[in-house]
Amino acid sequence: MAILKVARLGHPVLRNVAAPVPLSEIRLPETQRLIDDMVETMREYNGAGLAATQVHTGKQIAVIEVLANPRYPDAPNIPLTVLVNPVVTPLTEAMEEGWEGCLSIPDMRGKVPRYTSVRLQAYDRGGEPMDLVAKDFFARVIQHESDHLNGIVYLDRMKDLSTLTHLTEWSRYWLGASEQAD
Ligand code: NI
Repeated sequence: MAILKVARLGHPVLRNVAAPVPLSEIRLPETQRLIDDMVETMREYNGAGLAATQVHTGKQIAVIEVLANPRYPDAPNIPLTVLVNPVVTPLTEAMEEGWEGCLSIPDMRGKVPRYTSVRLQAYDRGGEPMDLVAKDFFARVIQHESDHLNGIVYLDRMKDLSTLTHLTEWSRYWLGASEQAD
């Protein structure tokens, strides 16, 4: 396993659209190693999620996990979830604003509108199809990571930048005021 280098905002790789992983390649050792490395990298930097585009790999793979995360002290737990070729479909027209950060945009938070309920269709790391409904915080993280695979970062989704906040100021003035995500 290895900790991968995370591209920061401005690196063109973050704006690339990732390619689907052929089903026959999901179980290959190199794909499994990439997934292991992405999980280790996400955990090392206390991310709630990480997309392959952030680690310079143009494949539709993302990992999500929230377990007592110090970067997101108020966030509900999400068990480790590996998404390959995710397709995200909004199930509501309702959007809610919530805080997001991103390992590619260090030390910042901003309020981002997201659909409160989405259908997620994807493959897991074993190549098995998954089809589930995610709500609220989990739905938010799925939308954030799925956006990365399409070259979109959360700043693009903000209605305006008035809530864009450095982490220290966020902790000081905003923490506990509402929910957050990555
Ligand atoms: Ni991100």
